[in-house]
Amino acid sequence: MGIKSDIRLIDDNGLRIDGRLPNQLRPIKMEVGVLDRADGSAYIEWGGNKIMAAVYGPREAYPKHVQEAEKAIIRARYSMAPFSVDERKRPGPDRRAVELSKVISEALESVIFVEKYPRTSIDVYIEVLQADAGTRVAGITAASLALADAGIPMRDLIVGCAAGKIDGVVVLDLNKEEDNYGEADVPMAILPRTREIALLQMDGDMTYEELTGAIEMAMEAAQTIHKMQIEALKRKYVEVE
Ligand code: CDP
Repeated sequence: MGIKSDIRLIDDNGLRIDGRLPNQLRPIKMEVGVLDRADGSAYIEWGGNKIMAAVYGPREAYPKHVQEAEKAIIRARYSMAPFSVDERKRPGPDRRAVELSKVISEALESVIFVEKYPRTSIDVYIEVLQADAGTRVAGITAASLALADAGIPMRDLIVGCAAGKIDGVVVLDLNKEEDNYGEADVPMAILPRTREIALLQMDGDMTYEELTGAIEMAMEAAQTIHKMQIEALKRKYVEVE
């Protein structure tokens, strides 16, 4: 983010390097229930991102001292495969993965009816197989489907979506080059029905007006992504005649 360069991210026709309009998402494909051993699972391809989410639980939280008497604890683990990025990533958690696991856990907790399952844990594994910017928001979108697939009651299907600023223009869903050379990236987790925001981070800088524009853009896109989630769930759970 913010590396000064001569690279132009928006051309004379107002199009981005991958041909998208400012408010256009990358292509997204989702599939629910892809793993036999997990209680719930989902796979998402979002632009160049390929991410698997698996859910276990609710099950008795272990070790016992992490149990909460009044609610389930949500433990998301975000992990990037060594082969998911250009420069081989050392296996195992780094500071970034620890931070992302924490904020994703908190975002998911805000939609799950945790009070229904005291003393349990709901474990959510997000495995990034291929990364191309926006992995935390794609991971949240897949995790939400995996939770639904595990039958865990939620207020809403949470949607992850980012917006930001490149070449002075507010845009939706930054790709890798835009993330590297743009001015700002704002990943968000959104509850589409109530239009609440459960996660908002910002890397870079933008004006107040630009930020509200970016939030509005992501909020609209969240409605589209939410429809895709419902379709993906229907493909697994509704019999086709
Ligand atoms: O993926 P997300 O946008 O949520 O997080 P980020 O920290 O802004 O990372 C942006 C992108 O940088 C990732 O999606 C990867 O494509 C890339 N990256 C990488 O190449 N090597 C890392 N160790 C971490 C991120």
